[in-house]
Amino acid sequence: MNRRHLLAIESSCDETASAVIRDDGKILSSIVASQDQLHAEFGGVVPEIASRAHVTRIVPVLSSALDAAGISRTDLAAVAVTSEPGLVGSLLVGLTAAKTLAMCLDIPLVTVNHIEAHVYACGLDEQGPIFPCVGFVVSGGHTSLYDCVSAVDFRLIGGTTDDAAGEAFDKVARILGLPYPGGPSVAAAAESGNPRAFDMPRPMLKNPGLDFSFSGLKTAVLYAARGVPGPEQLSETPVDRVPDLAASFQAAVVDVLVQKARRALKQTRHRRLCVGGGVAANRHLRDQLTAMAQQENIELRIAPLKYCTDNAAMAAIAWEYLRAGRTADLDADVLPGLVRRRSPHATSASPGSS
Ligand code: KG4
Ligand code: ZN
Repeated sequence: MNRRHLLAIESSCDETASAVIRDDGKILSSIVASQDQLHAEFGGVVPEIASRAHVTRIVPVLSSALDAAGISRTDLAAVAVTSEPGLVGSLLVGLTAAKTLAMCLDIPLVTVNHIEAHVYACGLDEQGPIFPCVGFVVSGGHTSLYDCVSAVDFRLIGGTTDDAAGEAFDKVARILGLPYPGGPSVAAAAESGNPRAFDMPRPMLKNPGLDFSFSGLKTAVLYAARGVPGPEQLSETPVDRVPDLAASFQAAVVDVLVQKARRALKQTRHRRLCVGGGVAANRHLRDQLTAMAQQENIELRIAPLKYCTDNAAMAAIAWEYLRAGRTADLDADVLPGLVRRRSPHATSASPGSS
């Protein structure tokens, strides 16, 4: 018996994932069972389908993670699980599995905030310390800026008042008739497009503060693609306009994300920016962030591609919680919404943004 290992579980949205992480931070295995195919025909995640798929996949995924790491259940020091935020049914599957293991093996249960874990992904695979920093999560469900003091002290300083950046990519893909998930397909279409072909708005850039709004931009793409509502409106976007629309939309989203990140660095005075979440896989965003980091002379850390989209390895943050004595009770519940713990020096506080 060698109790040096953490078993991590992630099921907050549509990936069933598990990882084994050793106490020195080494990731021994990371298994992700994607549900993309199940949701593709609907153009977005269907919560009921997601939770049912988690139920059938969770045990095989957990077994695969242990097998791939070459350890047994008796080698586990603790079990970590995403408990917030996410889809309630999806979160409950992971939490129930984690509680069962913690109880049967008599080991501690640690609950993890999924968004904070996305930031922590920037330090995985021995990339070096990440705190203190500005943490920036751009995913399908969240566009969140944090003042990250330490692994156990994240202060939310900005969020979206409506759609998340990835959600906007997914919705624009649907408008343009591109396949799900929308981020990679819009990015691929944008490769051959002209980012200046359409004059897209840069929402919230003129507003002070660090909040975002992407639903107006999505509507601007809809009108540019099909015309404003009326008798002349098209039902489908002409194929030859798709690359230019994709490129113009992507340029607008990336512009807003990069300028707000720059603002967050100035506000917090941190010299390091850590970016995670599915949209952090976007090449144009990575290029523009790199250029901004050079101009501002700050350290840029972007999560490795394999840890940008949802995975359980990033729940390695649970080792830091354990060291700080932050374990959960077996009656812990899921928290589907993002709890806003605003920094004392946040400049904007729009209720309901997440
Ligand atoms: O972090 P993630 O796996 O799930 C959430 O926690 O939401 O992010 C998924 C999101 C989807 O909206 C997907 O379209 C977007 O990330 N995404 C991208 C790219 N790859 C994934 N968005 C833009 N460009 C990409 N290359
Ligand atoms: Zn995520």
